[in-house]
Amino acid sequence: MVAPIVQMSSIGTQITEAFAGLDRMEEIFQQEKEGEENDRTLELKNTQGYFSFQKVNFSYEEGKEVLHDINFEMPSGSVTALVGSSGSGKSTIASLTATFLQPSSGEILLDDQPLAQIKLSAYRDHLGLVLQEDFLFEGTIKENILFAKPEAQAHEVENAIKSAYVNEFTDRFEEGLDTLIGERGVKLSGGQRQRIAIARALLADPKILILDEATSNLDTESEAMIQESLAHLMKGRTTLVIAHRLSTIQKADQILVLEKGEIVERGNHESLIAAKGRYHQLYTYQSRI
Ligand SMILES: Nc1ncnc2c1ncn2[C@@H]1O[C@H](COP(=O)(O)OP(=O)(O)OP(=O)(O)O)[C@@H](O)[C@H]1O
Ligand SMILES: [Mg+2]
Repeated sequence: MVAPIVQMSSIGTQITEAFAGLDRMEEIFQQEKEGEENDRTLELKNTQGYFSFQKVNFSYEEGKEVLHDINFEMPSGSVTALVGSSGSGKSTIASLTATFLQPSSGEILLDDQPLAQIKLSAYRDHLGLVLQEDFLFEGTIKENILFAKPEAQAHEVENAIKSAYVNEFTDRFEEGLDTLIGERGVKLSGGQRQRIAIARALLADPKILILDEATSNLDTESEAMIQESLAHLMKGRTTLVIAHRLSTIQKADQILVLEKGEIVERGNHESLIAAKGRYHQLYTYQSRI
């Protein structure tokens, strides 16, 4: 008698939970599909990864321009760093490059083809993203890295893991790469999570890379390892980086300084320091850009 009565008392909570789940499912199903719009017809077999922003304007809401007259080029394999104060439009430029947003006017060209006409699936095959809070799911570390390329060969995985210094901390775990992470597994530090995200991107081996560097305070040792692994990752790829590390900014081929949605200065570190303008100001008055 007792057991069924106890069970009955939990039915109420179960039903409530089930309805909450149903609500969330419904929300997801109602999301509009990104879809391959009809005007995206261009394939992209190989890409040089040469970008050109031409007179790009963008607003999220009508009448409130967030980016104004953005013009710049990203040569194949080069690193472009975006710096500027909060709200200046860095993430918006990154989202435009990732095709999450479309310019309100002006054009973005990839290898002289309009990005707006390239098939999304074709473009995203060549695109890698490493974001501030990268998405790791519950499972083993290895599964999280393989997510980018499930059919990867063992030696490819090993290379990615070494270049991102993931083995530096997994070697200390009893189960190594098969260690579970997430709620039921070990908790990883910010720097360790970043290295997993970098290994994932290395494995995917994209031609174009968008990087939003995390600002998390890391101890000098992890910082050095992340710097190294980022250097491995950027090598040979057209990289757009929202840079917070001075080391990344100093090594960039070109730095774009944004202010209220406009590019106010551009050049490399030395030339911008010598110009004694906005960049010099940011560099001198803030320890971190
Ligand atoms: N989804 C949105 N809807 C409306 N306005 C937005 C949206 N996202 C950003 N903005 C506005 O656009 C401007 C540029 O934002 P953006 O996120 O590009 O800045 P940011 O340079 O990346 O700043 P941060 O350094 O804080 O990340 C800001 O004024 C912001 O308020
Ligand atoms: Mg941002």
